[in-house]
Amino acid sequence: MKLKNNKHIPLDKFIDLSLYHPQKGFYMKKNPIGKKGDFITSPNISILFSEMIAIWIVAFWENLNCPKKINIVELGGGNGEMLKQILSSSEKFPDFNKSCNFFIHEKSPFLVKIQKFRLGKSKVIWIKNFKRLNNCPTIFIANEFFDALPIKQFIKKKNKWYEKYVDLSDLNKLKFIKKSYKIENLKSKLKININNQNFIEYSPSVAIYLKKISKIILKNRGGLLIIDYGNFNSKMYDSLKIIQKHKIKKNLGKIGDSDITYDLNFNLIRKILTKFKLRIAGSTTQGNFLKKLGILQRAEIVAKNMIFSKKTDLYFRLKKLINKDEMGTIFKVVLATNKKNNFNLGFK
Ligand SMILES: C[S@@+](CC[C@H](N)C(=O)[O-])C[C@H]1O[C@@H](n2cnc3c(N)ncnc32)[C@H](O)[C@@H]1O
Repeated sequence: MKLKNNKHIPLDKFIDLSLYHPQKGFYMKKNPIGKKGDFITSPNISILFSEMIAIWIVAFWENLNCPKKINIVELGGGNGEMLKQILSSSEKFPDFNKSCNFFIHEKSPFLVKIQKFRLGKSKVIWIKNFKRLNNCPTIFIANEFFDALPIKQFIKKKNKWYEKYVDLSDLNKLKFIKKSYKIENLKSKLKININNQNFIEYSPSVAIYLKKISKIILKNRGGLLIIDYGNFNSKMYDSLKIIQKHKIKKNLGKIGDSDITYDLNFNLIRKILTKFKLRIAGSTTQGNFLKKLGILQRAEIVAKNMIFSKKTDLYFRLKKLINKDEMGTIFKVVLATNKKNNFNLGFK
């Protein structure tokens, strides 16, 4: 999309521009993850997180009767940290490791470079779409992937609906505006009951991904594990966040200088996945999920021979991942599988 020819653009187009413009986009020109970046993700807080995901994947593979070939697809690879640790844990399970095709689906060429550097000579394959996933079971892992996809917002005021746009006439003073909107268009597109809402956040890109992923899981078995900021509320609210250097900003700033994200409404995601005939096998908080997978016991083992300062650091990081009011409850975990599958480790 060219910047100058569009004075007003819908919020999702603006987010797409801000995050993924080939030159200016937030994700296209730097590594935003880490202390020196703008935000931090669970795999970059502690290795224990990725170890738990690895164990969970191995258990899912066993539940699928140890297929000879299985695809493990990370959606949005960030700086490659999670897959690096998953690969390393997989080596402890040689039969599983032999069966695995590991993939990263990543949009940012800048981040692909970082991922390739970090993952070295591993057997990871980078994919732009899902065509290369052949007819074998596929497990998709989406840690903070869907919250990086653009959303639309619709607001109801005095019984009339409006869509949020961004006014680009002055690129140094970007501002939100509203344009009236025929909500019937969204209703006919979604085919999901959204009648009791006064505010709607909806991502067409998320819906497209969920459709593609559901088709693959229905055909070949496997599942989709989503770990993300979000809520299970039936009422939607404005959850848009503009983040720079680990702080939430009030204004839009300049194109590409901040992360623009939101809280997933897992209630809507559940409805979309159900429409695509998947089963929601489990939904819980990140803290519960990790504890059920044994993260506390793993920490105890790892900490045994550590000096005091290292032990303190390990537990400080662990708490960030599992504590209430931190990522432990702010992040939710949802698993979708086909209806014949009964796997629900981490959710029971
Ligand atoms: C918030 S980061 C999370 C990274 C990683 N999963 C982690 O936990 O550290 C979002 C990632 O998704 C990627 N991404 C966003 N939209 C994408 C798309 N449509 N296709 C592929 N990758 C995408 C971003 O470039 C980035 O690597």
